[in-house]
Amino acid sequence: MRKIGILTGGGDCPGLNAVIRGVVEKCMSEGMMVYGFYDGWRGALTCKGRWLSLRDVEGIQTKGGTILGSSRTNVLAIENGQERVVRVMELLGLEGLIAIGGDDTLGVANELRKLGVNVVGVPKTIDNDLSCTDYTFGFNTAADIAMEAMDRLQTTAEAHSRCIVVECMGRNTGWIALQAGIAADAHLILIPEFPMTFDDIMKVVKSRYIRGERHTIIAVAEGFELTGMEDIQLGTDAFGNKLLLNKDLAKNLSEMIEHAMRTADDLDENAKLFESRYVVLGHIQRGGAPCAFDRVLGTRLGIKAAELAIKGEYGMMVAQVASKIVAADLNTAVMERKKVDREFYEAASLYFR
Ligand code: F6P
Repeated sequence: MRKIGILTGGGDCPGLNAVIRGVVEKCMSEGMMVYGFYDGWRGALTCKGRWLSLRDVEGIQTKGGTILGSSRTNVLAIENGQERVVRVMELLGLEGLIAIGGDDTLGVANELRKLGVNVVGVPKTIDNDLSCTDYTFGFNTAADIAMEAMDRLQTTAEAHSRCIVVECMGRNTGWIALQAGIAADAHLILIPEFPMTFDDIMKVVKSRYIRGERHTIIAVAEGFELTGMEDIQLGTDAFGNKLLLNKDLAKNLSEMIEHAMRTADDLDENAKLFESRYVVLGHIQRGGAPCAFDRVLGTRLGIKAAELAIKGEYGMMVAQVASKIVAADLNTAVMERKKVDREFYEAASLYFR
């Protein structure tokens, strides 16, 4: 009987379970067994996991997280890591591996591919920054969560005539902040792709104040860097990614805005009482049930990944391109990050006034 492995690596993401179900259902319908490794590459290094049954996956597309668990274990940073994964696969009799992950997890899959291991990649990240696919599943759920949070922050900010800075995930790209910000009428959206000075930011906050607008909502991606603001380094994860969440971006920005408004000499007396607050949405954006779009995208990607494995067409990544599910080049996908393009950002900027 043919056998294949599956794992979910990196930050979890709503829709992972839909992919797992798609893979298991399709493989088993063709007589292929699926071994689920626990906790991403950690399970593949230590041979921890279990054979998955149809019962294991029934209805799981409705749930967040991943039934297999995840970790940021980096095979490439572990001595003989790749050889250990190959040995584990041989031990279990696996002909290939379906790796569901972002650029880090798929980067490992791509290195294994170069060694001759049969891999299929499935693109996953709430950040939506993997290239060769229109969307990564999880992104739409995360953006909806951020949008709902901003909708709520609008009313409290307006009631108190405050500025509220809302920090979204997105360590290299600003897809979530942009999508949620446009949808929830954020008055300014700050993303890593388009740096801004503090003066640029204050122009918007001040002009809203002068026009008598009661409040300002600023959506900021965690990876945004303000010229002149120190990036407090808290170290890196196993893949060398900067740990950003605690660098107090939203807090610092909020405090700077409040101070600048209170001390501005071109504003009225009331500005001396100006208040600003901040909210870091953090892992709330990754938790809970996936939206309908991500459940369906995950399902389709999972089924397509299984189809490639069944046909023996390894070395590819499944992707959504113009609403079709296709096989894309894994190597290209991990080489280049998908960034927000200028045209999209400029369209959003029309409302920054
Ligand atoms: O998976 C991507 C991501 O959600 C980023 O947006 C964020 O910076 C990072 O993961 C947080 O990682 P962790 O859960 O390891 O703190």
